[in-house]
This record gives sequence, C-alpha cells and structure tokens, in this order.
Amino acid sequence: MDEFTIQAPAKLNLTLDVLGRREDGYHDLKMVMQSITLADRLTLRPGRAPGIQVSSSFHFLPTGEKNLAGKAAVCFYQALGRPARDLDISITKHVPVCAGMAGGSSDAAAVLRALNRLEGDPFSPEELAHVGEAVGSDVPYCVLGCTALAQGRGEVLTPLSPLPHCWVVACKPDFPVSTPELFARIDSCRIRRRPDADGLMAALEQGDLMEVARRMYNVFEDVLPERQLARVADIKNTLIQQGALGANMSGTGPTAFGLFSSQSQAQAAYDVLKQRYQEVFLAETV
Ligand code: C5P
Repeated sequence: MDEFTIQAPAKLNLTLDVLGRREDGYHDLKMVMQSITLADRLTLRPGRAPGIQVSSSFHFLPTGEKNLAGKAAVCFYQALGRPARDLDISITKHVPVCAGMAGGSSDAAAVLRALNRLEGDPFSPEELAHVGEAVGSDVPYCVLGCTALAQGRGEVLTPLSPLPHCWVVACKPDFPVSTPELFARIDSCRIRRRPDADGLMAALEQGDLMEVARRMYNVFEDVLPERQLARVADIKNTLIQQGALGANMSGTGPTAFGLFSSQSQAQAAYDVLKQRYQEVFLAETV
C-alpha cells in the first residue's frame, strides 16, 4: 500500500426534524442533507507501529481507535472478516469541530471509502454505508454524500435531486454544544415549528433554489438556551441582510449557514461575519 489521500466533505442540514425518542435511546429523525466543498484531508499510510494510529492538525481530538476515523478502520476490517492492517491516518482539519457539520463522521466515512478502494472494492457504496452505522449515526450519509433524505437514526438514506449549485457561508459561534445533551433536552421541549421537508424536496425536484432556501429549518433551534439562540439568530439575520436566499442552523449546531446564488454577495457576507466571529467559512455545494 502506498500513501492514499482522500477528502472528507462537511455536511449541512437543509432540514432537521426529530420525530420521537426510540426504545434504544436514539431518536427517529427526518433530515435533508447536503455536502459542501469545505473538507478535511486525510492521508492513510502503512503503519510504523502495530495497530491504527490517528493524528490530526487539531490537537484536542482523540488519537487511535477513540477517534471516529480509527473506529471506522476497526469496523471496516471487522465487516471484512480480516485482521486490520497497521495504519497511520493523519487528518488535516478544515471542517470546524463540534459544529453540527459532521466533521468527525465525514472523516470516518472517508476512511471507509479509502480502505474499500485499497482492498479492491469488496463493498458496494450501500454496503459501505451500512458498515458506517456502527461508527455513528451520520456516517452512512457521509459515505454516500450529495443531496439525500436521512431517516431512522440517520442511516435510512434516499438520494434526492441535487441542490442547484450555490455558495455557502457558514459561521460557528464560539459556544460549545453537546449533541447527547440536546437530544436529551428535546424530549421535554415544546417544538413550536417544524420544517416542511416534503415541500423542500418538491422544490429540489423542480430545481428551485429560492424555494429550497426559504423552506430550510432545524427543530434544534427550539432547544438551544435563549442566549445561544440569540447568537445563532444574529448570524442568520446577518446572512439574510447580506443577500442569503435562506439561512439555517446545521445539525445540533451551533453553526449557522446561508445559501447564496451570487458569489460576490457570499464573499461580502463572509467579510462582514469575519469581523465579528473567528470561525467563518466560504464554500460551494457539491
Ligand atoms: O450515533 P452518534 O454516536 O453520532 O450519536 C451521538 C449521540 O446523539 C447519541 O448518543 C444520542 O444521544 C444522540 N442521537 C440520538 N438520535 C439519533 C442520533 C444521535 O439521540 N438519531
């Protein structure tokens, strides 16, 4: 095996709805997901030591099999029924961490895709997505990517008509969120508004970017404490004032993003937000 490099794109939630808590403790979801060009870069090399080593440009991330990328390698070889190769996985992070953009899940999915290629494509893309279920709920989507409806825990995937090309500005405010805590809190929360995922999917089918953008919504906005919600609302309002066709929070947050049909407006929104926030990103849809 030579060195192998692969991209791990971030995802956005165009919609996110939580339908209810399940007996296994997870929640049934209905989400429309979209991949963007903002991506981590992973390099896989033959291991210099036994086992699976993971290092990253973001030094607070776990190393080895505690990192989702390392866990993905373990799950891949378990599914293949073969002992794992000794591997060094190095990750150059560009996707913000704990941001609601599936950075860790996408790294894991990239490892699955890379190992599948290196081992001669033993799994179809759908089988590989299934292997990803053991790694995390967002991993199956990240294996397939593009525009898709994710249901169940996140693993029941239906490809959708692609989102018409547009520019994305994403901004992560600097407060931490805990995904398990927010999922626990949503059970006792009154959800005031639900996304119209079916309407958004109809707009996708018609290639109507404006209607897609108008229908974006994420129920986790109702779950954020008031102070944090105000920060997300400030970012969304700034994006809309700068010409975004619509704005939404991604995943369990705290990142909010806007969709733009004009590159110059997207650049202007990026510049305005960059004066006030540290983690701001300009990307395109894939
Ligand atoms: O599957 P993953 O490890 O990414 O999920 C992280 C946490 O998010 C879970 O432990 C659970 O608390 C919550 N979750 C959930 N329902 C889902 C996905 C995640 O409750 N469908």
